[in-house]
Amino acid sequence: MSKKNLVIFSGAGVSAESGLKTFRDAGGLWEEFKIEDVATPEAWAKDPALVNNFYNLRRKQVMEALPNEAHKIIATLSNTFNIKIITQNIDDLHERAGSKDVLHLHGEIMKVRSSVDEKLISKLNKWEVKMGDRCEKGSQLRPHIVWFGEMVPEMDNAILIAEKADLFVVIGTSLNVYPAAGILNYVPQTALKWLIDPGEFNLDYVANLKHIKAVASEGMKIFKEQLQAVKL
Ligand code: OAD
Repeated sequence: MSKKNLVIFSGAGVSAESGLKTFRDAGGLWEEFKIEDVATPEAWAKDPALVNNFYNLRRKQVMEALPNEAHKIIATLSNTFNIKIITQNIDDLHERAGSKDVLHLHGEIMKVRSSVDEKLISKLNKWEVKMGDRCEKGSQLRPHIVWFGEMVPEMDNAILIAEKADLFVVIGTSLNVYPAAGILNYVPQTALKWLIDPGEFNLDYVANLKHIKAVASEGMKIFKEQLQAVKL
């Protein structure tokens, strides 16, 4: 029998127990920094050194962080399911936990790209990108991040994945940022859905959705228990 399609849609909350800050919680990154100063094309045009420094610090923290129990449980689910992960996160903790099929909607902190040719992408194995580090076409390297106001090139691929979900798990996202948050609209009505997040949500309009109100590691354990009752 073929495996069912399980789709995980993750946000910053899945990496919180790894020590990485979320954006909109109390003490989150957007309290410390202004989006318009560090995460827009206009910010890059105005003060690239400030933007570069912001992402250097993010990269340093990601390199120091380790996958937590939630990332690890998600990785083990590939034994039972055809699992695909759609993440808004720029960290690589899903991959380092062993997950293979990870689509990054908002880019990847361990990659940089040319600022004149978006297809010229390269991997990094150090945290620091210096001002003056250039791509082969001679332009300053920029973080491989989707900034506010930019297109989300992987959105169409994410929709194709969501449309085929038999089970769909939303974990650790405030569902505030579009188009990413609109992914739920593409999940089949009939798919079983879970939301794992300690926050309050009003998602009454989403059919077949259970809210496990817990942090990511605990929530994934509860989810695994609830799977026992699901006919696969
Ligand atoms: P947010 O900071 O908006 O939301 C984080 C969510 O994680 C909230 O719903 C929290 O309740 C939840 N949370 C906090 N701690 C948790 C834990 N230990 N376990 C599970 N959940 C927890 O982050 P995102 O929704 O990921 O984009 O933000 C979406 C996008 O906005 C990001 O990708 C980033 C940001 O600006 C860009 O920078 C383009």
